[in-house]
Amino acid sequence: MEFEGKAAIVTGTSGIGKAIAMRLARGGGKVLACGVDEAANHQCEAEAREAGIAIHVQECDVSNPSDVRQAVGWAVSSFGGVDILANAAAIHPFGDVLETDLETWNRCLSVNVTGIFLFAKFSIPEMKKRGGGAIVNLASVQGHACQRGVAAYATSKGAILSLTRALALDHAADNIRVNSISPGSIATPMLERAARIFSPDIPVERVFERFGQAHPLGRVGTPEEVAELAAFLLSSRAGFCTGGDYLIDGGLKAGIAVK
Ligand SMILES: NC(=O)c1ccc[n+]([C@@H]2O[C@H](COP(=O)([O-])OP(=O)(O)OC[C@H]3O[C@@H](n4cnc5c(N)ncnc54)[C@H](O)[C@@H]3O)[C@@H](O)[C@H]2O)c1
Repeated sequence: MEFEGKAAIVTGTSGIGKAIAMRLARGGGKVLACGVDEAANHQCEAEAREAGIAIHVQECDVSNPSDVRQAVGWAVSSFGGVDILANAAAIHPFGDVLETDLETWNRCLSVNVTGIFLFAKFSIPEMKKRGGGAIVNLASVQGHACQRGVAAYATSKGAILSLTRALALDHAADNIRVNSISPGSIATPMLERAARIFSPDIPVERVFERFGQAHPLGRVGTPEEVAELAAFLLSSRAGFCTGGDYLIDGGLKAGIAVK
């Protein structure tokens, strides 16, 4: 129950965001989960209820300043403040620069990067009032070394690494720790969409097995494994960790690709 008495906001209500919300709530935290997808929002709320834990779910577009202000305001009025922020909402468009239209490019940066900027902007003053806080941003191995055909997404993930460092330095004196997590392939709806786009005729589980082969551990990761790392970074156990990026990639980045 290490999150007892803590007020947390998590963005993204499926996949990794949902797993982090569940993990924090299981640890005793009061959790507000924010997402734009109505079906995912309902599913997240229902799964929490079935598991006997409380997660309050709100519709929120992380790229919309008034939605974000409203979500943070809800946490303050209902939970008494904000101690923890986990930013996992994102979109993953595919395409090189020639294939990516400006609208898609702007939307990707807006959701993946500006969404974190906005939640930080409205949450940090609340964390300061509580004497500190902890933030985790979901980056990606694609922010370190990218594949072909993910120009907008990889750019957004590189920006998250920089934004994490900037936030960590600027708010260390406020006792606010800020770290990022860079996962390899994790079995979530985002990876399912990628599997369907690139291998529409093969069952998703088979495609996941193939994605898994690229990782030295021979499998894709689970959202719960990522949530466990997030929980550590958001807890007082990680009291001396700030400004860092933590790989959880089954060894993917340790190797050199061999064809
Ligand atoms: N799954 C992977 O293999 C993988 C790998 C590396 C990094 N990541 C990162 O992990 C994070 C979580 O992704 P996931 O795999 O759980 O995918 P996901 O698609 O299940 O989760 C992303 C969530 O963000 C929500 N979202 C999208 N746009 C939004 C908006 N404008 N406002 C609010 N919510 C919005 C979606 O509805 C969804 O619930 C993302 O930052 C992703 O880039 C995932």
